[in-house]
Amino acid sequence: MHFYSNLLLVVLATVANGQLIGSVGPLTSSSDKAAIKTCNVLDYGATNDNTTDVGQPIIDAFADCGSPDTSGAVVYVPEGDYLLDTWVHLSNGTTWALQLDGVIYRNSSPSLEGYMFTISDGSDFELFGSTSEGAIQGSGYLYHMQGDYEGPRILSVSGVENWSVHDIALVDAHMFHFVISGATNREVYNMAIRGGDSGGLDGIDVSATKFWIHDIEVTNKDECVMTKAGTQNALFENIYCNWSGRCAMGSLDSNDLVSDVTYRNIYSWSSNQMMMIKSNGGSGNVSNILFEEFIGHSNAYSLDLDSVWSSMDPVDGDGIFYTNITFKNWYGDATDGETRAPIRVICPSSVPCTDITLDKINLWTDEGGYEEYLCENASGSGYCLDTSDSSSPAATTQYINTAPVSYSAATMTADSTTAFGTAASIPIPTIPTSFYPGATPISALAGSSS
Ligand SMILES: *[C@@H]1O[C@H](CO)[C@@H](O)[C@H](O)[C@H]1NC(C)=O
Ligand SMILES: *[C@@H]1O[C@H](CO)[C@@H](O)[C@H](O)[C@H]1NC(C)=O
Ligand SMILES: *[C@@H]1O[C@H](CO)[C@@H](O)[C@H](O)[C@H]1NC(C)=O
Ligand SMILES: *[C@@H]1O[C@H](CO)[C@@H](O)[C@H](O)[C@H]1NC(C)=O
Ligand SMILES: *[C@@H]1O[C@H](CO)[C@@H](O)[C@H](O)[C@H]1NC(C)=O
Ligand SMILES: *[C@@H]1O[C@H](CO)[C@@H](O)[C@H](O)[C@H]1NC(C)=O
Ligand SMILES: *[C@@H]1O[C@H](CO)[C@@H](O)[C@H](O)[C@H]1NC(C)=O
Repeated sequence: MHFYSNLLLVVLATVANGQLIGSVGPLTSSSDKAAIKTCNVLDYGATNDNTTDVGQPIIDAFADCGSPDTSGAVVYVPEGDYLLDTWVHLSNGTTWALQLDGVIYRNSSPSLEGYMFTISDGSDFELFGSTSEGAIQGSGYLYHMQGDYEGPRILSVSGVENWSVHDIALVDAHMFHFVISGATNREVYNMAIRGGDSGGLDGIDVSATKFWIHDIEVTNKDECVMTKAGTQNALFENIYCNWSGRCAMGSLDSNDLVSDVTYRNIYSWSSNQMMMIKSNGGSGNVSNILFEEFIGHSNAYSLDLDSVWSSMDPVDGDGIFYTNITFKNWYGDATDGETRAPIRVICPSSVPCTDITLDKINLWTDEGGYEEYLCENASGSGYCLDTSDSSSPAATTQYINTAPVSYSAATMTADSTTAFGTAASIPIPTIPTSFYPGATPISALAGSSS
């Protein structure tokens, strides 16, 4: 499958024109690693009856099957239920995999912060479920129902080179679900992330270079899949923000650079935005970005570039310089286009946005008879943007009184009108077989052949 992915990438890299460079993912297949050695956690003191701490057995199995001294192997968590009391930090592993076919439950007793699982440094790593049924259950509701939103995040991968995470579910984090930082050449795909209906429960936050994130479903009420400062050469595809906050870029502050990023086939249902780019003052450049093929239904806002984002404390500086950003082929509807503009491009007055393209943003309002589009200090082409080359582009509010032609767009059958709250256990989802209307996962689900 890895070979197949690389073949696809060659094609994509050509088509995507510099957005994604070279191959991503582990260098060695998990079956080649397993052929060298497999360390089953059941042989290291774990039980799959959800009673004994699985943390230390995983750490001990890693010492034999993955640590720098024992590279070329697989740590295996077989099917069954496991309890996690000890947070797991595995670092500097090379040429190894963590096969998660079981379900790991956070025990309610320890109130450690940090991450339940941290994989740091090292290279050639794969975290995956061979049946697509492995999961980590954070049971965040036990804390959220008491108003406690400060606790462990579920998963961090930082500083690792050449790796992938796929075919597992992350559920009900106390705080964020999955944070990716540093290093390079990563692939994340075929995942379902399902959290409570609240802020602070981000799906995937990523700051990195050269990566491909595709076929992901996020249910929560904060960031769906978010790019942070320092991201370059990244491709996001087939992302299903199902009752979420939004796909986003930000929050950007000082000397932040983001370039050569594509988001494609993004579906947002009942979220705060379809895509939000956010900053408030600060400095840095965001350039060569493409947002294409977006479908949204019943979102509060839709296309939202906000350089005076009021939820963020202002940062010193004239503002981020946003240039060469294209939004193209967006379809669907927004809840209230009269008061919440489906197109908002609000740029800093001292560093106006340049070379912005809005092309076929066909969104119509669910309520009311018109919608407004707002552009401030933004030049380029399409809709309310200033088309002159003026160094101080005019602010424009555009009113649209008739629905755009062909705004209607497909829905996903899993869209639902009831959220998971924060006061009851959240069931572990099945990883969907489609993350965007009409699209099947780029790599078949690992469990689909069994
Ligand atoms: C990982 O490797 C780096 C570089 O060799 C070293 O500085 C660091 O201490 C190692 N980390 C652990 C936890 O062993
Ligand atoms: C496993 O144990 C945890 C902690 O007691 C509990 O929350 C969870 O419901 C249990 N899982 C199953 C499948 O019984
Ligand atoms: C990561 O993979 C690239 C090729 O895809 C290779 O050039 C690089 O050396 C690898 N890094 C490590 C640490 O193995
Ligand atoms: C940001 O872009 C401007 C204009 O192209 C350029 O002068 C400046 O050097 C860039 N800043 C950084 C940090 O790359
Ligand atoms: C603008 O960005 C696109 C990617 O969206 C890139 O292909 C193109 O080369 C960039 N144009 C310039 C002038 O840098
Ligand atoms: C855009 O520029 C105008 C004047 O040039 C200014 O009044 C307005 O506040 C600016 N908008 C933002 C978001 O800075
Ligand atoms: C989508 O989100 C809704 C609301 O939270 C939920 O009921 C539904 O199960 C989710 N769909 C999937 C496939 O997880």
